Formats: sequence, C-alpha cells, structure tokens
Amino acid sequence: AQTTRIAVTPGDGIGPEVVAEAVRCLEILRTRHNLALEWSRFPWPSHAWHEEHGECWPQDALEQLKAYDAILLGALGDPGPIHDTDRYLLPDSLSLAPLLDMRKGFDQWVCERPARLLPGARQYLRDDRAKDIDMLVIRENSEGEYVSQGGRLRQGTPDEVATQMEVFTGRATERIIRYGFEQARKRAGERVQDGRTRSFQTLDGTTCESQVCLITKRNALRYWGDMYTEVFEDISQEYPDVATHHELVDAACMKFVSCPWAFDVVVASNLQGDILTDLAAVISGGMGVAPSCNLNPTNPDLPSMFEPTHGSAPDIAGQGIADPTAMLFTTARMLEWLGRKDPLLSQAGQELFDAVAAELAAKGKEQRSTREIGDAICKRLGA
Ligand code: IPM
Ligand code: MN
Repeated sequence: AQTTRIAVTPGDGIGPEVVAEAVRCLEILRTRHNLALEWSRFPWPSHAWHEEHGECWPQDALEQLKAYDAILLGALGDPGPIHDTDRYLLPDSLSLAPLLDMRKGFDQWVCERPARLLPGARQYLRDDRAKDIDMLVIRENSEGEYVSQGGRLRQGTPDEVATQMEVFTGRATERIIRYGFEQARKRAGERVQDGRTRSFQTLDGTTCESQVCLITKRNALRYWGDMYTEVFEDISQEYPDVATHHELVDAACMKFVSCPWAFDVVVASNLQGDILTDLAAVISGGMGVAPSCNLNPTNPDLPSMFEPTHGSAPDIAGQGIADPTAMLFTTARMLEWLGRKDPLLSQAGQELFDAVAAELAAKGKEQRSTREIGDAICKRLGA
C-alpha cells in the first residue's frame, strides 16, 4: 500500500503527554504489522509557538497539513484558548480557533463522537442500564450556528445590538442526515458481526435494531428545524431497516440523563451537537475516555482530524498524571478511518481499541500515571 502519513500536533498542556503514548503505540503497531505508516510532529498550533512567533501557527499551516492523510491533535489552549488577535477573535474574523480553521479548511463536515460506556470506565449514572449506553452522536461540523457571521452595532453604548447568524443549507443538511443513516446501518451490521445484537427499546416504547434520532429545536427555530425534519423524513424512506425518532434538543438533554441507553445514532446541528456531546461524554465515562473525529468523507485528498474531546487541562499539565485513554481511543479511530485506504490500518485500529478497552476493564478504576497506563497498553500490544 502507499504510505499513509500522519501529522502529529501535540498542542498544549497535557496534549504532548498523551500524544507521546499514542506515538509509542503507533510505533509498536507499525513494527509488528509492518505498516506503511509514517508521521511528522508539528510544534503548532500551540501556546509555545504563539509566544515565540506572535501567531498561533504559520500562515501556510493549512497548506503544510494538506499533504497528510490525517491530523492527530493532542489538545489546544494554555491555559485558555489561544488569542492570536491578528487572525482570531476579530469581530469580522471567520475563524475562532485553529480547530475551527482545520474543520473549515479541510471541509471536515462530520464530527463523530461515539459515547459507549465501557467496562471499567467511570459510571456517573446510578441506573445500571447505563452499561448499555452505546450511541454515536454525529455533529454537523461545517455550518449552522458556527458560520461566524454577524456583528456588534453601537458597541460600547447602552443601545448595543449583537447579531449572530445561523446558516443551514439543504446540501449540508442532506449529507449529514444521510451520513447518520449510513452509520446506523453500519453499526447494526457490526453488532451482528460481534454478537452484540440488541434491540433498542425506543423512546416511543417500540423496539428496533437500529435507529437515528434527529435533534432540532423546531418549536422555536422553525426554518432550519422544518428543513431538517423534511430532509430527514425524505431520506428515511431509503432506509426502511432503520427506525427514526425526533427529539427537541432540550428534551434530548433530559433523556441523555434519564434513558441514554435508548439512543443509537443521534444527528444534531453544529452547536446543539457541541453541547450534547459534552453530556454524552460524561454519561459514558467522562472526558478521560471520549474521542472526537472530524471527518471529510467526500474528499480523500483532504486530511481528517482526530482529537480527544478533553482540553489541555493546564491544572494537571506537566505532572505526568493525565489519562491517555481518550487519546488512545482517538488514535484507534484514526487508524480505523485510514483503513479505507489500507485495510491493515483498520485491523491495527481494532487491535489498539481492544487493548485500550481491555486495560480500562482491568484497571480503569486505579490511579496510575500516564506512563504506567501507556506501558500496560504497549504490553498488551505485544511490546
Ligand atoms: C469542541 C470544542 C470547540 C467547539 C471549541 C474549542 C471551539 O468545544 O470541539 O467541542 O465548539 O467546536
Ligand atoms: Mn465542545
């Protein structure tokens, strides 16, 4: 196979610490399976780069990253977000952070955030049915509430008005909803394959083998809510094997806590998905285990980006105690994604997932250092 190239961007805070463990695992997998895989490290985007250069990454950063098949990102912000006032946080700037620039620049229009409560992970919900939590939240990642259009009028006066536009196009709506149905079908197939067949008790009391739940706030935000709903109903006709459901985002928040095991695939807009995925992360073990994948499924020439949902955690940075589990699950997902070009990589991804999950099940409850957890997983990989 052609060599697959990864841009490793450790970032800030605990980012470099957890990325170091990911790179160790990649190294073992590469050697053991003779993978056609290589990676380069970038010192940006980061706070350190900003200190030295006055900008959070070089002007041609996207150009440089474009040459890679994937970007593996640690965490950004030290301690807060990077304030590159030349390009970011200006009233008219289209970008808020390098993260958003990468999503936009590489048209990573899907954000996949799986939330599965694995054995050994911290169970925040007391109800034991929480063990069945296994959902995939798909966040629209290209438009909606994140278009950053608007402005402030009469700023600094008592009559100030701030506007912030939301833009939803039919094209982006259709592709994200279709993607949701495809994933529901794929997940049902995978469950059959590994004997995890289950029927979901759906939210309306019936049962189904796979389901897509559409999130909107169409009782208040009518225009895009109606468009999303119509597109959803149209596309669902092509997937008679997948049950459908619709929740308003506020009710969905409640049900993510009261009966999260009833959800399978969830499709949400950019901001609503952002909020729901923090909630989904906490009910499935917390920020220490949650991966996030920013994907461009349409253009194989543009890199997708993989990051743990957690941030740079400046309060524990430098102490070697950050849990690398989320980073390693993220790395496993990246390898599975890259498997579309080289099937050996998806096998390696599955192997990494199994090793991290096994370690979590065995010792997830113990307090251990980043290195100790990394060592144990490397050992499971055959190091
Ligand atoms: C996330 C983060 C980002 C977002 C921030 C850092 C801009 O919260 O990836 O979920 O809102 O998308
Ligand atoms: Mn977020």
